[in-house]
Amino acid sequence: MTETQSLPLIEFRDVVKNYKSEAGIFPALKGINLQVERSEFLGIIGKSGAGKSTLLNMFTGVDELTSGEVIVHANGESISLHTLSENDLALWRGRTMGVIYQSFQLLPMLTLVQNVMMPMDMSGLYHPRKSREKALELLDMVELIEHAHKLPAYISGGQQQRVAIARALANDPPVIVADEPTGSLDSVTADHIFQLFERLVQSGRTIVMVTHDKGLVPRFSRHIEIVDGELLPPSNSPLMGENHSFPLRGKVGKGAK
Ligand SMILES: Nc1ncnc2c1ncn2[C@@H]1O[C@H](COP(=O)(O)OP(=O)(O)OP(=O)(O)O)[C@@H](O)[C@H]1O
Ligand SMILES: [Mg+2]
Repeated sequence: MTETQSLPLIEFRDVVKNYKSEAGIFPALKGINLQVERSEFLGIIGKSGAGKSTLLNMFTGVDELTSGEVIVHANGESISLHTLSENDLALWRGRTMGVIYQSFQLLPMLTLVQNVMMPMDMSGLYHPRKSREKALELLDMVELIEHAHKLPAYISGGQQQRVAIARALANDPPVIVADEPTGSLDSVTADHIFQLFERLVQSGRTIVMVTHDKGLVPRFSRHIEIVDGELLPPSNSPLMGENHSFPLRGKVGKGAK
């Protein structure tokens, strides 16, 4: 066992994010303190504009923070994300995190299968034939195999969202960070994706997922609520902050390892 194993996986220390624009400074995150444990399915809920995507961008390091620190304790080392160079951070993210962006971020000039192959090819861990095979398997899993050779512009928003999910899972990342990953899906398809996430958590992955759908709260192993850039203390949450006492669907929960 490595020495980081007993520490939380991810730790936010007083994270502040101010956006600067012509209109002035906008405080989007006002000193966030937060810990994410291993094998947790953490839901982040909040209204539109509350700061959910901003918070998620701090997990991935894709955006700079104004002050504070995001520390990841994994593989025997503790890394303060925002001190890494852009290259090191991209490399680290590629190995560690599957990211599903709210706006999908598919590459428009690549077919769906090429989009899903991208993270595998970038990591250099897969032979191109293998990455193609795996990309097709993932597209099959999200029920898009028949569209594999289309460009993103020729499929629907919900289908693009599923491609983004397949791409995030390509490298079997230990951590998955997802911004409204089911927001463009019908309820049946959304439920399939949610069940897939539940299975990933059961097999030891850690998932942080943003949603404004409070109906999903009982299915997370824990949830936090963000209001105007601040986390609500658990007891103030109308949905009971620490909800470990909720009956959990499946076997997902703190005890699931
Ligand atoms: N680049 C930016 N420049 C200035 N303000 C920004 C920028 N990005 C976000 N904001 C502001 O920061 C606040 C939080 O935005 P954020 O995108 O994190 O909200 P959100 O909770 O993800 O909302 P939604 O549910 O609509 O996706 C909003 O008031 C938004 O207008
Ligand atoms: Mg958002």
